[in-house]
Amino acid sequence: MITKQKGCVDIYGKDAKKWKYVSRVIDEVLEKYNYSEIRVPVFEASELFHRGVGETTDIVTKETYDFQDRGGRNITLRPEGTAGVVRSYIENKMYGDASQPIKLYYNMPMYRYERPQAGRLRELTQFGYELIGSDDPLADAEVISIAVNIYKILGLKGIKVNLNSLGDKESREQYRDALIKHFKPHIKDLCSDCKERLEKNPLRILDCKVDADKDIMKKAPKTIDYLNEESQIRFTKVKEYLELMGIEYEVDPKVVRGLDYYNHTVFEIEANIEGFGAQNVIGGGGRYNNMIENLGGPSTPAIGFAAGFDRLMIALDKENIKLPINDNIDLFLLYVNDDEKKYAVYLANDLRMKGFIVETDYLSRGLKAQFKQADRLKSKFTIVLNSDDLKQNEVKIKNTSTKEEDVVSLDALVYYLDENMYEDECECGEDCHCGDNCKCGDKKC
Ligand code: HAM
Repeated sequence: MITKQKGCVDIYGKDAKKWKYVSRVIDEVLEKYNYSEIRVPVFEASELFHRGVGETTDIVTKETYDFQDRGGRNITLRPEGTAGVVRSYIENKMYGDASQPIKLYYNMPMYRYERPQAGRLRELTQFGYELIGSDDPLADAEVISIAVNIYKILGLKGIKVNLNSLGDKESREQYRDALIKHFKPHIKDLCSDCKERLEKNPLRILDCKVDADKDIMKKAPKTIDYLNEESQIRFTKVKEYLELMGIEYEVDPKVVRGLDYYNHTVFEIEANIEGFGAQNVIGGGGRYNNMIENLGGPSTPAIGFAAGFDRLMIALDKENIKLPINDNIDLFLLYVNDDEKKYAVYLANDLRMKGFIVETDYLSRGLKAQFKQADRLKSKFTIVLNSDDLKQNEVKIKNTSTKEEDVVSLDALVYYLDENMYEDECECGEDCHCGDNCKCGDKKC
């Protein structure tokens, strides 16, 4: 048997319906903030990620899927979305659009050669969004609030926003010097990767998983103590706007993010849910004002966020959140002889085109087994197509939960289904149906 690759998942059945529902909620929320979807290629020139994400990051040095294509080009499967979105922004000259800033979102698989474990995959899905062309702290606060609102709308409770600022270029340089001063006397105690990081990019020492528990790491200088006045004022504004929107956060100087492109605001969202496990950062993002210029575009400020879709689904599961997915069908058509089967073929096609979820038998089952199948599919109605009834231009339709049966003219069948399909009206009086997300916010109805 050929099995799937390590760190990959198959999503199907009820899980696929849950993914679809969650994707729809994400789309809807982002569209409210006027983001539009972007789809970029799965593979790009390796150089994009080396220059975009950073040569010294774990992602680029240890985790990318790199290969040469048949034309000898160096190709990388995208490990994240921001670099590809920025490449597209530059290549398509979106900076020239009259309407600014540019707001883009995505929901797509990424590839990282990591050691797989619960919540850590090699093919992972991220939803994310990028706001390109504004340096206003309002943009930072809004980007954070969108993530929180998506999680809230989905019903997640145990989430926490950890916020930090890396400051501008001057603040970062001062912080870099402080880190070198702090770590240099202890270089012999650090792992071989960190020894190299000290020279090339001391900030990356702070992401080290090997040295993480050492005292020297705990005592490392904090970015916020090295912010210059301008960066401090900016950070205060971000916090002020978050408070105005009622978004709770905690300033956490440990958040430095594992990618090189950030400055000013950085943040991570953590799921504090029992049984969630070690991979509890369900999303992260920040401002990257230099990346667009570094990749050959005009100097343009930007900020964004990306979240692990797989981790979000685990969080929803661990919090026992029942997503309003529809796992019933509307109608099962049963038949015995070939004429009735032909009518089933016609009627199933007709009713599906009119919007109903209709199933019939494909396995030449007897009537009893067809009823069992209708049961398994949780069909709301069944019709046993019977040649005598059909000659009278009518069918007997049975409601599987009330067990009531009605005789309905074929001409009135669609009207009957429309009227009787959804019995439980929401208390708010909205015309919502099971599986829909009622405007009143009651997901039960
Ligand atoms: P990141 O922190 O590398 O940021 O990834 C964002 C989220 O993707 C993580 O917080 C985590 O939930 C999820 N994730 C990462 N790796 C894995 C994995 N191996 N398995 C499962 N989930 C994973 C970025 O990717 C940036 N592009 C975010 C960003 C957008 N910054 C600005 N704009």
